Amino acid sequence: MKAVILSGGSGQRLAPLTNTITKQLLPVANKPTLFHILDLIKEETQIKSICIVVSEEYGHKVKESIINSEYKKHFEFDFVFQDKPLGLAHAVQITNMHMGNDPFLMFLGDILIDKGELKKAYEQFIKNKPESLVVLKEIEDPRPYGIAEVSNGKVLKLVEKPQEPKSNLCLSGIYFFQPSIFYAIANIKPSYRGELEITDAVDFQIQEKKSVEYYIIKSWWFDIGTPENMIKSNEALLNKLAKNNINSKFNQSVKIQGVVCIDQNVTIEDSEIIGPAIIAKNSYLKGCKIGPFVSLGENVYLKNIKLENSIIRENTKITNVMGIISNSVFGKNVELSLSDNLKDLTKTNKTKYIVGDDTKCTSL
Ligand code: TTP
Repeated sequence: MKAVILSGGSGQRLAPLTNTITKQLLPVANKPTLFHILDLIKEETQIKSICIVVSEEYGHKVKESIINSEYKKHFEFDFVFQDKPLGLAHAVQITNMHMGNDPFLMFLGDILIDKGELKKAYEQFIKNKPESLVVLKEIEDPRPYGIAEVSNGKVLKLVEKPQEPKSNLCLSGIYFFQPSIFYAIANIKPSYRGELEITDAVDFQIQEKKSVEYYIIKSWWFDIGTPENMIKSNEALLNKLAKNNINSKFNQSVKIQGVVCIDQNVTIEDSEIIGPAIIAKNSYLKGCKIGPFVSLGENVYLKNIKLENSIIRENTKITNVMGIISNSVFGKNVELSLSDNLKDLTKTNKTKYIVGDDTKCTSL
């Protein structure tokens, strides 16, 4: 069995964060989503061969990050470039040559799920050998997603982004297919939005009376496609930190509560860190209150700020911002620096920032 990870698309809902990087490489809990997915496939399936669909714009960056990673030792990778984001079924169709006659797992590259769920869905697919198996998640408002109507263990109908959904089971972005899915894709037409929809291909199989099963995720699931969801995924992953892992030394002026992971060569002075939180190597913090649910990338510099529920990427510097920085994502090489006389750590108003890479905002 093989896997296809869809790592193309345009990621517009995450702009400006995606103006310089593809969303699947954006770090959540200090690791790209794509790497979290590779961890799951490695730990919970027997799959060794992975085909990654990438965009023309960022494909080379994805390829480079995989080739330079530890995953190269465990998996065999193929990369397929998609000219334009013409839909999920189009992305699968162009992997046809690489998949051959093998059944395969299809995983959207912007999805994160809790450990243990992929294993159960994989085992169900291997045991029952249905034509397709769709992984579903019960959610409150399924309108932005594809939804599944189900009965007695079988899928009766799939509908893409319905205005009046008849079910609250959304398609999670994880599917298992026999090679016959390529025949189904060849038999569908682009939808009203001009995309070849994987929901239409699976729905074609249902019309043809093929067996389409489902598995429902019980634990957490997130599509990191918006800044709000990135922050929720970061929170879910940080909640999984089991114990402290502190690799730098601090003096009495530093108070640490809850579970934290602090890498080597981190300097912290006169600050409070509230876990769960992760701080990557070479970072510097002074006069700060950080956490909970904060991930700091490498070489981050923070002075006189309060920060909660946020992701700060590498080489970013934030100083003297009044109030609490909350539910925010800062790209890399950002500078947000206000002057020392503006510093006021007593303010408790919360401000949300979504800042793209290489942005500078400073005052004297
Ligand atoms: P989406 O989130 O549906 O689309 P997108 O990435 O273009 O984002 P936005 O709507 O914010 O512009 O895509 C889901 C996943 O599938 C994501 O990992 C990108 C990938 N994808 C492809 O690889 N090729 C495609 O043609 C499409 C539409 C998505």
